[in-house]
Amino acid sequence: MTTTPTAVRTTAVAARATDLSKTYGTGETRVVALDRVSVDFRQAEFTAIMGPSGSGKSTLMHCVAGLDTFSSGSVRIGDTELGALKDKHLTRLRRDKIGFIFQAFNLLPTLTALENITLPMDIAGRKPDRQWLDTVIDMVGLSGRLSHRPSQLSGGQQQRVAVARALASRPDIVFGDEPTGNLDSRSGAEVLGFLRNSVRELGQTVVMVTHDPVAAAYADRVVFLADGRIVDELRDPTADAVLDRMKRFDAKGRTS
Ligand SMILES: Nc1ncnc2c1ncn2[C@@H]1O[C@H](COP(=O)(O)OP(=O)(O)OP(=O)(O)O)[C@@H](O)[C@H]1O
Ligand SMILES: [Mg+2]
Repeated sequence: MTTTPTAVRTTAVAARATDLSKTYGTGETRVVALDRVSVDFRQAEFTAIMGPSGSGKSTLMHCVAGLDTFSSGSVRIGDTELGALKDKHLTRLRRDKIGFIFQAFNLLPTLTALENITLPMDIAGRKPDRQWLDTVIDMVGLSGRLSHRPSQLSGGQQQRVAVARALASRPDIVFGDEPTGNLDSRSGAEVLGFLRNSVRELGQTVVMVTHDPVAAAYADRVVFLADGRIVDELRDPTADAVLDRMKRFDAKGRTS
């Protein structure tokens, strides 16, 4: 008897790219960073994006997160088409609906951990939902470190502050570009565990770029990019299965 996954997945789409293309430069220096990419990121799902250096991972993430413009195609966050938005509205959508975790934590050195976490909301003049904030701080295990400044925190703790900051405003979708790229494997595992918990327990939608098959195995699904195109997808990945797929692409690359 074959077993089927019993987990019920919601089908609502948190973000969608359709025929998304992005080129840089013209003539001889023209680079096609994204070549008609169509992909859905479903609500309460954890997606990892993988692929060789230069395959367009960061470009895809920046375009979908409204941090970068695209050449053609469309991007939707929830029901909102990004292409139709004026700058002011795009800024507001980014602020209200999107959380971003950068590889270099991007914390402000003069602020405490707690002040860093609430900074985006403070700038927006929004009052944090205290209960939610406590839940997030508790989940990332920073309760005892809230009055510390970044220089008084380890790399892993700083990245946990960055994770809490991205989750604090309850964004519709959280993007991370190699969020564990600068961490040792133990701190990385902690941060990945928090991201996965935020999906499983809080219904957060997370999209993460990573080069690490072990990190990708925390996700529900892996999307593989090569030369600006989606070339494969893997559900319920294990590190071994991800490695296996990556080897297959390498072999194809050599024979073609
Ligand atoms: N500002 C830019 N001007 C010109 N070309 C760019 C620019 N930014 C990116 N590119 C090119 O677009 C392609 C995709 O870049 P991107 O940063 O998305 O790759 P990536 O998959 O994130 O790679 P990595 O794993 O190294 O971070 C690359 O060929 C890159 O050289
Ligand atoms: Mg990149």
